[in-house]
Amino acid sequence: MTEPEFNPEFDTAADAILRPLAVGRITLANRIVQAPMGRLRADLQGCPGELMTEFYRQRADMGLIVSDGTSPSRDGRVFVTQPGLYDDDQIPGWTDIAEAVHGAGGRIVAQLMHAGWNTHQDVTGLPVVSASAVDHRGWAHDAKGNRLPFGTPTALDAAGLGRIRADFAAAAGRAVRAGLDGVELHAANGYLLHSFLAPNSNTRTDSYGGSPENRARFVTEVAAAVAAEIGADRLGVRISPGMTIQGAVEDDDAVAAETYAHLIDGFNALGDGTGIAYLNLAQPDLDGDLARGIRDRFHGPVFANRNTGTKVASTRRDALDILALGYDAAAVGRPALANPDLVERWTADAPEGNPENTPDPKTFYFGGAAGYTDYPVYAG
Ligand SMILES: Cc1cc2nc3c(=O)[nH]c(=O)nc-3n(C[C@H](O)[C@H](O)[C@H](O)COP(=O)(O)O)c2cc1C
Repeated sequence: MTEPEFNPEFDTAADAILRPLAVGRITLANRIVQAPMGRLRADLQGCPGELMTEFYRQRADMGLIVSDGTSPSRDGRVFVTQPGLYDDDQIPGWTDIAEAVHGAGGRIVAQLMHAGWNTHQDVTGLPVVSASAVDHRGWAHDAKGNRLPFGTPTALDAAGLGRIRADFAAAAGRAVRAGLDGVELHAANGYLLHSFLAPNSNTRTDSYGGSPENRARFVTEVAAAVAAEIGADRLGVRISPGMTIQGAVEDDDAVAAETYAHLIDGFNALGDGTGIAYLNLAQPDLDGDLARGIRDRFHGPVFANRNTGTKVASTRRDALDILALGYDAAAVGRPALANPDLVERWTADAPEGNPENTPDPKTFYFGGAAGYTDYPVYAG
């Protein structure tokens, strides 16, 4: 069965998906990218182990895997079993993952995620930092799963900003030393980097706040620091422009368009004007002016996902629509979580939504192999 007609350029899902894509230094075998998903299954030192290696090995046929959101800093950890890249001791676990994915023919980058104001001192043992000392509602979790309501974060001072830039660059260096194909900066979903971009979480009066250009400055600087460490062609960035999520409020598309225009111009200028390797765009209206404006302004390939914050997982149809809209790849979260052979399933005449391949939210952030590495492949 072929997919209902979705674009005159493609006759079948396989035609749409099985096209290679150049992304900075690497070439992806197809247009389905595994969206970053923090599954919190590292050890208490933030080191990935065999279970994580197996999870990623199983999914090596994705065009690219973006890893769990992985902390570049001790104070950036969102939970005690989040993987990290802030310590050299964490490198060997990532080396195992890189070798497993590469050995199975895949590509993988680490998503560098500093939780910013979306964590708690009882998780990290350190003060919570953000763009500004602004309150927001929500909670982190302690090791037993108890809620830890967010407190008022500490605004990063000049030394703190320098330390965070250096942490991201050092983490990127470790990722590459481990053999990963690069890193993705998490500048979306309300975490530290996003807290600089959104007007409500950034009330700074220095050169990092007060105007769209200033709010874009810190993320651009972090990207520049990472590019200097590993090369702009090994760097991608995830953004969620115009979205209100995990404390960050971006409810004015005109303001968001201006802020992200500065950001995109900054990304395009890196690597002596060659630009960063890719943009990973999370936005509900991918055909709207804001998303299209960003896509057209950015010089490199853009991956897209319109589903952030929704209860229902995206589908093959969503992915094909994204490709038909002209995005270079579809970033897919929960379907990849629950289908180790997603690309094969979506390009073959295979049913979608078997009960045993339904993502189980109970195991998203807790547990071992159950709901992690035990989703079955398509039986044919
Ligand atoms: C268990 C889980 C963990 C996630 N962790 C991250 C993360 O670490 N970084 C990130 O940028 N997005 C994260 N997301 C969001 C996904 O990347 C994706 O945008 C979202 O699931 C919507 O896409 P989908 O409908 O294809 O799942 C997570 C989603 C899930 C379900």
